Formats: sequence, structure tokens, C-alpha cells
Amino acid sequence: MTKPPAKTGGLAGVTAGETAISTVGKEGVGLTYRGYAIEDLAAHATFEEVLYLLLEGRLPTRTEREDYERRLAAAAALPASLALVLEKIPASTHPMDVLRTGLSMLGCLEPEGEFSRLNTSALRAVALAPAILLYWFRHHRDGRRLETNAGAGRVARHFLTLLHDRPPTAEHERALDVSLILYAEHEFNASTFAARVCAGTLSDYHSCITAAVGTLRGPLHGGANEAAMELIERFASPEEATRGVHEALARKEKIMGFGHRVYRDHDPRHAVIKEWSRRLAAQAGDRRLFPVSEAIESVMWDEKRLFPNLDFYSATAYHFLGIPTLLFTPIFVCARLSGWSAHVAEQRANNRLIRPDAAYVGPDPRPYPKEGAR
Ligand code: COA
Repeated sequence: MTKPPAKTGGLAGVTAGETAISTVGKEGVGLTYRGYAIEDLAAHATFEEVLYLLLEGRLPTRTEREDYERRLAAAAALPASLALVLEKIPASTHPMDVLRTGLSMLGCLEPEGEFSRLNTSALRAVALAPAILLYWFRHHRDGRRLETNAGAGRVARHFLTLLHDRPPTAEHERALDVSLILYAEHEFNASTFAARVCAGTLSDYHSCITAAVGTLRGPLHGGANEAAMELIERFASPEEATRGVHEALARKEKIMGFGHRVYRDHDPRHAVIKEWSRRLAAQAGDRRLFPVSEAIESVMWDEKRLFPNLDFYSATAYHFLGIPTLLFTPIFVCARLSGWSAHVAEQRANNRLIRPDAAYVGPDPRPYPKEGAR
């Protein structure tokens, strides 16, 4: 069977439905969540306010935000049977598989039941995702059973505290908080679309987010930030990086963290995360990784007119926060659970089964052969 040509495949340019949640690359508008520019949200909002905005459709008042943070803190308690399952998952497992399994187990323990409970299930999943991930990670890496009775009410602080055994500095907490805001939502990207396809069958919330985690795992989507870090770390200097990337391009390799299906000349999230990466690099006294990243950026622009997407400088920003590379894509999950949940709700609110047509390119009808003639 012949594959359709790449440039016409992948539903590129196809409008596959309506959304009131975000705009991506809309002319004169850019990236917005429920009408608010990403630049404003990254400068002024917290991730928890963005979560509320995506799920409830409006920004919370101060009292609502405080109440929401209290609910998030309480919802971060890890059920004992889920902790047991996490201990049984092998140490060699990719953390994305751990999250996929952990969130799926959560659906067994606390099924959504009525669709009207979606926002409660979503809040629980967002609150619990860092604990699922880091309970497993610390158990296998350090032989520790983390206390996970309650969260910090702030996902970034909770994540970094579970990872490092101490609350982060305000600067580190805000860096991760901003990154969660940038990763929270992005219209009909592959994982969100997978969640909507699942929701379109009237399936339950946990099946939708499990489908989305599996879709996000691949290097052409969420996995790009890990691949970018591996590339950046390979080079000892900007000169070496320049040479290495020229050679990789000559071999027709893809450089992860560059390019985008929708954006044509820049990713509006890039400037924000690059600035954070620069700040964290200066604080960490880095003289290699940030300059190497800039060298790669410059070759990619000069040679291919390709620009860094959000994943590229997220890689070094996370690295400077002391986060192991294998946990980069799972952080994307912690953030994007908010967008996925909003899309599941939106799909259900005006649902029709998502079932496109396919152009058949296989053999013409033929007679069924006898066994000896095959
Ligand atoms: N490095 C090198 N070349 C790239 C590239 C990259 N990161 N991204 C795109 N290109 C090239 C392709 O090789 C292709 O060249 P060709 O026309 O000579 O074959 C052309 O640009 C179009 O790429 P294509 O993969 O068909 O575009 P797409 O719209 O299907 O894919 C991405 C978009 C994001 C999947 C693609 O840019 C990519 O694979 N990027 C790296 C992974 C990544 O960072 N993903 C995170 C996205 S936020």
C-alpha cells in the first residue's frame, strides 16, 4: 500500500472542528487562552489561574483562586493502592509510561462516573500527576517512599519540592510555573486531538487523558524537549555545535525542538522560555549549554529558516532547575492535562463522533485464493 505524500498528509491545513479555548497562530491575534494573550498570562498569571481559566472559562477572583489552591493541595494525596502500583512498575520504564499507567489506575480507583464530574476529575489528575511521577521516580532512584499526603496548592512548587526534598526558590518556582502556563494549551495539537477523538465516542475522562499521554510521548510532539537536551549536551562548545548541526542537516536529520505545523516564522512561546533559560543559565554559572543552544538556533535559521519551538529552550531551562531529562516530557503532561480537560468538556458539550473518511489506495477487488495458490 502506498503512503499518501507527506505534504498532503497529517490533516495539515484541515479545520477539524470548532473551539472557544485557544487560538494558535491566528493572524493579528497569536496564541491566546480564552482570549488572553500568552504573553500576558506568562507575565501576570499563575498556572493555577490558567487551569481555572481553561476549565471554568474565566479567571478566578482572589478568593476563588485561594480556594482552588486549597482544593488542589488536598487533591494531591496519593492513594495507597496507587502508590503500590507505582512501586511495581520497573525502574527502567519511561516516565511517560508511568504517568499513563498511573492516570489510568486513578480512573479505576476514582472513576469519573457522571460527565458532570469532569472538572473534579481534572483537578484531581492535575494535582496528582506530579506525585504519581515523583513517587515512582524517587522510589526507584533513591529507595524512598515520599510523603504525598497533600500538595502545595501550586503545581510548580509541589513538583520541585517532591523532586529536591526542599521548597524551590521563588525564582525557580516561577520559572517552572511560567513553563506550565506556556505548555497548558495549544488548540488541536496531536495529543489534544487524540483526547477529543476519545471523548467523541462518549468515553470516560481517564480514557481520554490516557490516549493523550500516549500521543504526547512521541518525539515529534512532547518528546522533543528530551531529544533537544540530548542534542545540546552532546557539544562542548558553540563551534562544535555549529559543526555538528551542519553535519546532521547534511545527513537530512531532523533537529528536535525546531519547526512547527502551524507557526511559520516563530513560536510566540519561544521568547518567554528563552529569557527564562538565559536567566537560569546565568544564575547557574553556565558557560556551555546556553551558548551551545544559541549556536544551534543560529545554524537552524541560517540553513533552514527553521525557528525554535517551545521545546527547545524548555530543555535547558528544566536542566538548570535540576530536573533530570527523562522527566521533561512528563512535565508537559502535568501542564497539558489542563488543556486536554477543557477540550474533553468542549467536545462533549457539542459532540459528534469523530470519524473521517480515508482515501483508499490498496489493491482492486480480487478473488479469494485457495490455500495452495497463495
Ligand atoms: N529539523 C530539520 N528539518 C526539519 C525540521 C527539523 N526540526 N522540521 C521540519 N523540517 C523540514 C522537514 O525535513 C521537511 O523538509 P523537506 O520538505 O525537505 O522534506 C520540511 O521541513 C517540512 O517538515 P515536516 O516534517 O513535513 O512538517 P510537519 O508540519 O509535518 O511537522 C513538526 C512539524 C513539528 C513535526 C516538524 O517540524 C518536526 O518534526 N520538528 C521536530 C520535532 C519537534 O520539535 N516537535 C515539537 C513540535 S512543538
